[in-house]
Order: sequence, then C-alpha cells, then structure tokens
Amino acid sequence: MNNYQWYPGHMAKALKTMREDIKPVDVLIELCDARAPESTRNPNITDLSRGKIHILVLNKKDMADETGTSRWLAYYREQGVTAVAVDAKSKEDIKRVNSFIEKKISDKFSGADSRLAEAVKKAGGNLKKRTVRIMVTGIPNVGKSTFINSFAGKAGAKTGNRRGVTRGRQWIRLRSGRDLLDTPGVLYVKPLSQEAGMRIAFIGSLNDNNLNTEELALDLIKWMLLHYPGRIADRYGVDEGDVSDALKVMEDIGEKRGALKKGGITDYERTAMLILDDFRNLRLGPVTLEMPEDTEGFINEKA
Ligand code: G4P
Repeated sequence: MNNYQWYPGHMAKALKTMREDIKPVDVLIELCDARAPESTRNPNITDLSRGKIHILVLNKKDMADETGTSRWLAYYREQGVTAVAVDAKSKEDIKRVNSFIEKKISDKFSGADSRLAEAVKKAGGNLKKRTVRIMVTGIPNVGKSTFINSFAGKAGAKTGNRRGVTRGRQWIRLRSGRDLLDTPGVLYVKPLSQEAGMRIAFIGSLNDNNLNTEELALDLIKWMLLHYPGRIADRYGVDEGDVSDALKVMEDIGEKRGALKKGGITDYERTAMLILDDFRNLRLGPVTLEMPEDTEGFINEKA
C-alpha cells in the first residue's frame, strides 16, 4: 500500500528559507488547489503571515466542481479567511485578484495599528510612495509559477536586489506599482491521514517518484467510481461495476487503450500513467476531492 503520508526531509529547510524571504513582505498570496484546498495548505502559514495581508487563492478553479468551490469560499468566509478562487491562466481572474488585493491594501492602510499603515504614514501618507511587497507561496504544483507569470504580465520588469532581501531574490515591479517577489516560497505538507495524502498525490503535489503509481491510479479509479460515477465509463467506454471491481476496470482501460504487454497482459504501469495523466489534464472532468466537512480539525501537521 502506498504511504501517502511521506514527506520530504527538506521540508524544514524550505520553511527556514521562507521565514527569511517573507520578512520584507507586506502581502502574502497563498496558493492552494481548489480541488483539495485544505489538504494543499501548509499549516505554518498562520504564523508566517502574522501582521501581513494574507490572501488565500484557490487556484485551478477550472479543474474543480463549481459547487464545491462555492462551498469552500463560504467556509473560508465563515472562518474569517480572505479567500478567492481563480484560474491562473485566465486574464479576467488575474485582473479580479489584483483588484481584490488592492482593496485589501487600502483597507489595511486605513487600519491605524498595522506595520504597513505606519510605514505609509512615514512616507507622507501616500500609499504609492511606499512600495508594497507581495510574495506568492504554496506547495509544489499548485500553480505558483503560472500565477506569478500571469500576475506580473509582460510589463513585469525586474527591479534588482533590494536591501534586506535574501541575495539572488528579484522583485518585479508590477503595473500597479507594487513589487512582486519573482521566486515563490515553496512549502510542503505532512498529511495527518492517508486520505489527505492521497488527495495531494492524485493532483501531482506529492512526488510520484516516491509512490507506486499503479496503486495510486487504482486508488484514483476507486475514488472516481465512488464520487463521480459515470465519468470513467464516459471517458474509456468500459463498464464501471462497483468499487470492488476497480482492478478489473483498470485492466479494461488498459485493453481499450492498447496498454498491453506481450501475450495481451495488462501493462499496469502504462495504464496507470495514462489514467493519472488524463485526470491531471481535466480529461476526466472537473472534480472536488474534499469538502469542508471532510477536514474537521487539522489535516496537515505543522513542521
Ligand atoms: P508550481 O509553480 O506551483 O509548481 O506550479 P506551476 O505553475 O508549474 O503549475 C503546475 C501545472 O499546473 C502546470 O501544468 C500549469 O500549467 C498548471 N496550472 C497552473 N495554474 C492553473 C490553473 O489555474 N488552471 C489549470 N487548468 N492549470 C493550471 P503543466 O502541465 O505541468 O505544465 P504546462 O504544460 O501547462 O506548462
């Protein structure tokens, strides 16, 4: 059985780097995956973002169930978390998130006790005179680079190293006049349950090299049969049966797709890869892997 609770040893080092990088930052954009928002969040964020504007972006909303995403946004609203759902490849969504951030910056500016408000006051009360620094963070594969590229746009020019910032880090001057750190902060997660780990593995945020992909694909088939009946049948033209038939379903998919070894035996490895690839490229349709009620309590452990 796959151990989905595996996590990389360099997690602590990543956190240390992040603690350094975040120091001069005013706005932290935390990306998670809209298909499994809580499982793809690093719980250290709460500490890291203290005193800063913190915006949770549910990215890849085009890959998630619309109703699922609405439920998550309502849940975060209840929890007092500022959250927005986007497709990082959509210009309209990026524009929307930009106005959202600008609104948060001006809201914070009116809050007398904030560090940012203080600094702005010192700069003569004009928000434009004080550079607001923005950083993007998230676990692997949630779309950090895509988001940074879309957010910075073509006009994004490197502004060079700044004082007080880790050497080698570059800031991109945005059209809005804000500065965006060009390197995202990469964090990892340590799932508390096999289920949470499995969801991260499905979407490709746990390194496949540490997993048995045949088992992963089999778990995915089981999950799809249970939660989205009909999708596998529609895509591959196979009979679904019930969850106990998952292996047979996988073999039928292999046969339909010609993923066979000599003698007509299923090539499980190739079949697994094609199923995972289809899932990760939306060819099995949009899915939401977890709902707020599935994640009562903490699902990822702090470093
Ligand atoms: P990372 O920096 O957090 O590791 O993630 P990255 O931007 O590299 O994105 C990982 C994959 O997710 C990429 O696909 C990227 O195109 C895709 N992606 C990012 N944001 C979105 C989104 O909002 N919606 C959809 N549908 N996909 C998104 P890839 O296949 O690995 O690369 P590519 O062939 O697209 O370049």
